[in-house]
Amino acid sequence: MPVIVIVGTQWGDEGKGKVVHSVAQKAQVIVRYAGGANAGHSLELNGKRIVVRLCPSGITTPGVLCLVGPGVVCDPEVLIAELQIAKAAGSRVLLDRDASVILPLHKLVDTAREMARGSKALGTTRNGIGPAYEDRDARRDFRLQDLATEASIRKALERGNLHADRTRDALPGGVLPPSIDELVAWGSQFKELLEYLGDSRAVVEEMLEQGAVVVAEGAQGFGLDVDQGTRPCCTSSSSMPAGFSKSFGIYHFNCVIGIAKAYGTRVGEGVMPTLMDTEWSRRMQELGQERGSVTGRIRRVGAMDLPYLKFACRRGGITHLVITKLDLLTGNKIPVCDGYRYKNTGMRVEKHTTLTTEVLENVDPQFTLLDGWSEPIGHCRRYEELPQQAQTYLKLIESSTRVPIIGIGVGPDRDAIIWRDSLSSLSQSL
Ligand code: IMP
Ligand code: MG
Repeated sequence: MPVIVIVGTQWGDEGKGKVVHSVAQKAQVIVRYAGGANAGHSLELNGKRIVVRLCPSGITTPGVLCLVGPGVVCDPEVLIAELQIAKAAGSRVLLDRDASVILPLHKLVDTAREMARGSKALGTTRNGIGPAYEDRDARRDFRLQDLATEASIRKALERGNLHADRTRDALPGGVLPPSIDELVAWGSQFKELLEYLGDSRAVVEEMLEQGAVVVAEGAQGFGLDVDQGTRPCCTSSSSMPAGFSKSFGIYHFNCVIGIAKAYGTRVGEGVMPTLMDTEWSRRMQELGQERGSVTGRIRRVGAMDLPYLKFACRRGGITHLVITKLDLLTGNKIPVCDGYRYKNTGMRVEKHTTLTTEVLENVDPQFTLLDGWSEPIGHCRRYEELPQQAQTYLKLIESSTRVPIIGIGVGPDRDAIIWRDSLSSLSQSL
């Protein structure tokens, strides 16, 4: 019963899409288990760059079954667009009937709150993610199955006083809340989703029983996880493997692959100890096209943060790492943060400290400058072909995190990944 979980270990945007795509070639089922259209996984399909926001990145792999689990909050318009991508690529999609729907009201509430917070805004994507999860936690969420008929839409809007309560929330200035009738009309546009609804948990259980390989695809990253991340600047769902366990009731995984970009980025607000504003960081920003794939916002750039990566690996249960965008480091010395000291005492931050926002805001990151390499590495497909300095950098990540690196991204193309020997042992366990 092989289950592979793939998660981000930083603040999202680690390049998970490409890794999922690669692992998907060996899988029969790929499940997106949390988050919503706040995520944006960039993929290439027939030479064109596409961004997948709700369906698993596997939708570009012909034949694979892509599931949207019950813990996802869905924007129906985005789902309809992504079903077209799946059709074109020859993959199959099943949407869990219990997944929540993001209503126009959720987006309005999210936006109004961000505007009201002013300089204290959380930097959300304003896609209504937080308010939709609030209604889920309040056990009155509007689910995909509620889109079935006008009567079921109306019933869902009245469940737990959903519509009445939500229309009492502050909305952006001058915006009137949509009435129940307007929302019924809105919800009636998505009938074509109904034929894709099903029980994703039962499908996973059955497919595992038949020996299928199931990949659980996380969205965002460790630092954005609602419980473990840098609250309050985090998302509202569990990005880590716990998010998959929580809705699918599966607690044993063959491996948990953590994706880490070779340097750090963070979009939106929130603490980032290794943030830099140097010629190097501006170069990474430009070369890495570090802009949010959903919001277009510029991502802040900083050095690889080894203390935070170590923490993410331990508390996220990461068993294997994939390092992405290594090629972008070519041609420069490489800044790395290899420790934190408290600002006020100068003492080292101890290993078992929980790295909350409050702790991270009070640390001085300790930087080392490693030797870089100058030759392009995009063509390398074996670890041994990488320059010595690149190998030294990767070994430093392995020795700090005590997690083996099984893959290294060396270019934007889908196949520009070095899979190391250990991947074959990984696939043997499949
Ligand atoms: P929300 O998820 O829209 O509520 O936004 C909460 C925080 O998570 C903000 O700082 C967003 O920028 C960040 N965030 C949400 N999804 C992603 C993602 O897929 N990549 C990077 N940041 C994200
Ligand atoms: Mg992204």
